Amino acid sequence: MTDVRISASILSADFANLGRDVAAAESAGCDEIHFDVMDGHFVPNLTFGAPVLQAIRSITKLPIAAHMMVERPDLYIEAFASAGANTFIVHVEATRHLHRTFEAIRAAGMKPGVALNPATSLATIEAALDYVDAVLLMTVNPGFGGQKFIPGVMPKLKRLAETVRTEKRQVDVGVDGGIKLDTARIAAANGARTLISGSGIYAHPQGLQAAVRELRSATAA
Ligand code: DX5
Ligand code: ZN
Repeated sequence: MTDVRISASILSADFANLGRDVAAAESAGCDEIHFDVMDGHFVPNLTFGAPVLQAIRSITKLPIAAHMMVERPDLYIEAFASAGANTFIVHVEATRHLHRTFEAIRAAGMKPGVALNPATSLATIEAALDYVDAVLLMTVNPGFGGQKFIPGVMPKLKRLAETVRTEKRQVDVGVDGGIKLDTARIAAANGARTLISGSGIYAHPQGLQAAVRELRSATAA
């Protein structure tokens, strides 16, 4: 196991105190801010867009990854690049021309990433691995925070991590959904390098700092 990166999903932050909660993730030692964008079409929920990302950009030095749970993500590449997103993750299920989209993301100055729903096969992105910096495996069905981790995704994670390792690819392998102490350990053991956690850290009874400390010790190399 290598040391994991912890990405704080602000979907579970207090939106009335978003700046405070982003700063809290940074001081608790998180490595990234995970910004969940939902359009009410690709997923049955709505969240926020580029103006909100721009607002938090000024209060953190951490990289920000935009997780685009939207139809036609290409429409938002320029706006998110200008707002200061570092990584732009599209869903394979919502993107018709993956290669074109990845090129556009890179040309806009962001790192391209691709996310797969729990029941989407790795075969859908096999031919795209040369063009992405991150692959995100959903361990819940996207749309809501606080759902239960789906363990059936682990064989897929293991295969992806193995491919990235044996082919020596510079691709970050992440998991998103239901990541808490026990599931973080399982995901890390199956090769996840980035753990995205929302309710697991923001709703932790002992607070954010304790949650991050726990995740680190549970997954220590
Ligand atoms: C789900 C989002 C996740 C979500 C994870 O659609 O993509 O990033 O915030 O939340 P938890 O960690 O609560 O499952
Ligand atoms: Zn997410």
